[in-house]
Amino acid sequence: MAGARRAVNADARLAGLVARQRPGWSLDREFYLDPAVAAADLAAIWHRRWLFVAHGVELPEPGCVLALEIGSEPLLLVRGRDGIVRGFANVCRHRGSRICKPGPGRAHRLVCPYHAWTYDLDGRLASDVRGHGVDATELGLRAYRTEEIGGLVFVSLADDPPDIAPMRAAYASWLEPQGLARARIAHSVEYRVAANWKVVFENNRECLHCPVAHREYIRANYDIHLTDPRRAAEIAARVEAEAARWAAMGLAAPTLASDMTAAWWRVNRTPLVPGFVTESLDGAAVAPVMGGYRTHDVGTLRATTFPNFWMHGSGDHAVTTRLLPDGPETTLIRVCWLVDGAAREGRDYALDGLTPFWRLTSEQDWELCENVQRGLRSARYRPGPFETVKERNVAQFVAWYLDELRAAAAT
Ligand code: FES
Ligand SMILES: [Fe+2]
Repeated sequence: MAGARRAVNADARLAGLVARQRPGWSLDREFYLDPAVAAADLAAIWHRRWLFVAHGVELPEPGCVLALEIGSEPLLLVRGRDGIVRGFANVCRHRGSRICKPGPGRAHRLVCPYHAWTYDLDGRLASDVRGHGVDATELGLRAYRTEEIGGLVFVSLADDPPDIAPMRAAYASWLEPQGLARARIAHSVEYRVAANWKVVFENNRECLHCPVAHREYIRANYDIHLTDPRRAAEIAARVEAEAARWAAMGLAAPTLASDMTAAWWRVNRTPLVPGFVTESLDGAAVAPVMGGYRTHDVGTLRATTFPNFWMHGSGDHAVTTRLLPDGPETTLIRVCWLVDGAAREGRDYALDGLTPFWRLTSEQDWELCENVQRGLRSARYRPGPFETVKERNVAQFVAWYLDELRAAAAT
C-alpha cells in the first residue's frame, strides 16, 4: 500500500515537473540529475523506443551473438541459421539467470550458465523440461522486435513499439550506397562520459558551439555558415552543382539544414566545403571508395535517431555514434569507424588518417557535455533560452522528449 502511494506521488511529481517546463528553454536540473527522472527515462524512452544497438557486420554469420545491457535490461542479439538477426531478453526462462555475458561470441546453441537450460538460435527452448511439469514450447526466450536496416540493427524493448515503417523505408534507400551491411569496422572507441544522455543529445543537435569547439569540423562542413547571408550565394551555387553531380550518380539531392525528417529520425546528404572529399583533417581521402559509391566526393550522409544514434557517412568511411545511459549522470558512448568490407588496414587505410577527425570532434563534445553536467549540479543553475534559429533543433529534441514522457504517463 505504501509502495503504491509512493509510486503515485512519484508520477504526480514527474507530471508536475514536465508541466512546468518552458518551451524553447533548457530543462530544470532534475531532468539531468534525479534518479527518479532517470528511471522514468528508462521506462518512457529507453525501454519503449527504437534503439540502435549494433552493426549487422558485428554478427557476420549464423551463430554469432552479441550481448549488451540497456539500463536494467540485458539484451541478446543472435544471427539465426536463416541469417536473420533476432533480439531476445538475455534472461533464462528457468530462474532468470543472465545467459550470455556482455560482448560478442559464437554459439550453436545458447546455454544458461546456471542449470544449463539450452536454447536454439531462434530462442526456442531445446532442453527436456518435462521434469519441471511444463511444456518446453511455453518457455522460449522472450523476443524483442528487431530490424536490420541498411546494416544497422535496431531493437525495441517495448511490447508494442512505435511504427518504424517510414524510417525503415527512408534509411534502407539512403543507406544502401554507403554499404554498411558489407563494411569492415576499422576501429571503435568506448567512452564513459560524465553527463546525462540528454545533455549529450542536446549538444549533438546544435552547431552554435562549433566555432568555439570544433576547429576541424568547421573546416569541412557548412553548418555554421548556413545562417550567414554573406555565404548564401556561394552555398546555393555549391548545392546546385552538387545536386547535378549527385543526380548523375543516382544519389538524392543535397539538403543542408540539420532538422529532423520526422519527430524522432532524420536522414539527408550535405555537401562538404570545396577541397574536402571526405571528413578528414586535410580533406583528402583516407580509405578506398566505400559500398556502392563511384567516387569519394559524395558529401556527407547524415542520419540521426532519438534517443541514441547518429552517423556521418563520407565516400570512403562512415562514423557511427551509439549512446546508452548508465544512471542519471553517465552516458556510455561507442564511436565506430567503418570502411569498405574489402579494405585492409596498412594496405588501404591507416587509423591515424581515418580516425582523428571524428575522434577530436567527439572528444571535444564530451568535454563540453561534462562541463554542462558540472554546471547543472549547481544549486544556482536555472534554465536558459535557446537561440531561436541555431538551437531550434535542441528545442525540438526537448519537446520530443517531454512529449514521450507525457505519452508514457498516459498509458
Ligand atoms: S536459471 Fe537458467 S538454467 Fe536455471
Ligand atoms: Fe559538437
